[in-house]
Amino acid sequence: MFHRQAAQFAVALLGFALFVPTSLAQARLANVTILATGGTIAGSGATSTTTVGYTAATVGVQNLIAAVPELAKVANVSGEQVFQIASENMSNEHWLTLARRVNTLLAQPNVDGIVITHGTDTMEETAYFLNLVVKSRKPVVLVGSMRPSTAMSADGPLNLYNAVLLAAHPDAAGRGVLVSMNDQIQSARDVTKTNTTTTDTFKSTDLGMLGYIQGGKPSFYRAVTRKHTTESEFDVGALTALPQVEIALSYANVGPTQVEALMAAGAKGIVHAGVGNGSLPARVKPALVAARAKGAIVVRASRVGQGILARNGEANDDQLDFVVADTLSPQKARILLMLALTKTTNTREIQRMFYTY
Ligand code: DGL
Repeated sequence: MFHRQAAQFAVALLGFALFVPTSLAQARLANVTILATGGTIAGSGATSTTTVGYTAATVGVQNLIAAVPELAKVANVSGEQVFQIASENMSNEHWLTLARRVNTLLAQPNVDGIVITHGTDTMEETAYFLNLVVKSRKPVVLVGSMRPSTAMSADGPLNLYNAVLLAAHPDAAGRGVLVSMNDQIQSARDVTKTNTTTTDTFKSTDLGMLGYIQGGKPSFYRAVTRKHTTESEFDVGALTALPQVEIALSYANVGPTQVEALMAAGAKGIVHAGVGNGSLPARVKPALVAARAKGAIVVRASRVGQGILARNGEANDDQLDFVVADTLSPQKARILLMLALTKTTNTREIQRMFYTY
């Protein structure tokens, strides 16, 4: 009898001895919440070789997590399905909902970081919007994939693992919103999608990526210099909508139709995606001047993709009372102008914002 009790006690003691370190180790892991919005990372195709022509936004967040059991070794992971959409359908309303959920979660002491799974088509835009409105230094990492989960050599699982690992790591704090794809760490402000289908599509072609994720840890080599997150003056807390800001693309033979139509549709701001250094075609300039005269804010940007948009370079911005986009792409200039218009319509103030964020 004694021997049986002794044996039972020894087994219980061994179990406790094994449990304690595991639970302590688990307790030491960061708590990371995955907010799923859809995209290819949640996509599925008919065969393992279907890398185009698949359906995005079909796999739920719990299945994404279950497909990568290694996540449990790098963080205590929980998941929420915020949306289930292809990211070409992301809207201002989606952004406001997502930003509020992120800020609510990050205000909780038991949430250490957030990963957002997202379609790659507008990932850079959602990332930049959040970069301007998240009110925390805790890591926020956006991640997607270029191949659906059903494809041979799907990039989603490792991308998700790296994103969670990054969001759980203290080095990722205070660096603004990050994009983690293809083992690389990019800043929300400078990253852009550069290829329609390849897994190395996300690059910060002009100003450079921030670092790598390799061997189970992030290595940072750069830091952003522009303000973001807790340094930002923008707050979505009370906003029910964002001002209507549109983009007009310039090209050879372009006329005023786009600008006139956007103004007729109620635009409060127009980003002109100009050729070269934001040149104003002679047939478009009068329409932009008329837009400004009606109170719309005009921002000169460039379709080129790299370089500074020089104030008073290809146009007399001082005289026209236009704003220049600095190094922001047209699609990111639109985001900053929308948020700027929630604060002011003063063009000098708005220009300051374009040189700040
Ligand atoms: N429909 C595209 C999107 O949701 C698929 C591209 C992707 O997610 O990689 O962005």
